[in-house]
Amino acid sequence: MIEYMNTLAERATATEVERVQWMQRFQFMKSLSYLLLALLSICSFVSAQEKGESSPGASIFKGKCVLCHGADGAGNTVLGKQLQAADLRSKDIRNRPDTELTKTVHDGKANMPPFADQLSDEQISQVIKYVRELGKAPPKKAAKKESLGRS
Ligand code: HEC
Repeated sequence: MIEYMNTLAERATATEVERVQWMQRFQFMKSLSYLLLALLSICSFVSAQEKGESSPGASIFKGKCVLCHGADGAGNTVLGKQLQAADLRSKDIRNRPDTELTKTVHDGKANMPPFADQLSDEQISQVIKYVRELGKAPPKKAAKKESLGRS
């Protein structure tokens, strides 16, 4: 009889332990999925920020400038190469003051068309701000692309 009660008690504790283990596993999975969700949203936020996708300057650039200057600003497009569009990430451009770049976009320069009638002064300053962001892109990537272009 005592033996029988002992096995019953053993079984009971065994199932109790199992139940607690399952609860722990469930809690762990739950916190893991919350963590993953949080990570995912941080990642997408950061990458959008990096690309400046949320800024008005970015959408102006995509609409009016990529044709010649390319999405990365390097000017490696068919038209950009033909017209010899400037590499907007180059040191040369980075070193020029905003006023000069604003004037170029406003009035045009050589093959670069003027945008005075298409963009307001505010839009021009927004797009220049975005051009500055392009110039800050990781130099590693830029160097790789340039060497590919030369070969
Ligand atoms: C039709 C092609 C074309 C388009 C569209 C175009 N560009 Fe250009 N861009 C050029 C060319 C070509 C040059 C090089 C001009 C030169 O010879 O100095 C240039 C040069 C520039 C420069 C260098 C300025 C300097 O002082 O040398 C900036 C900045 C620039 N573009 C910004 C823009 C922005 C911003 C837009 C969109 C609003 C834009 N470009 C649209 C062709 C284009």
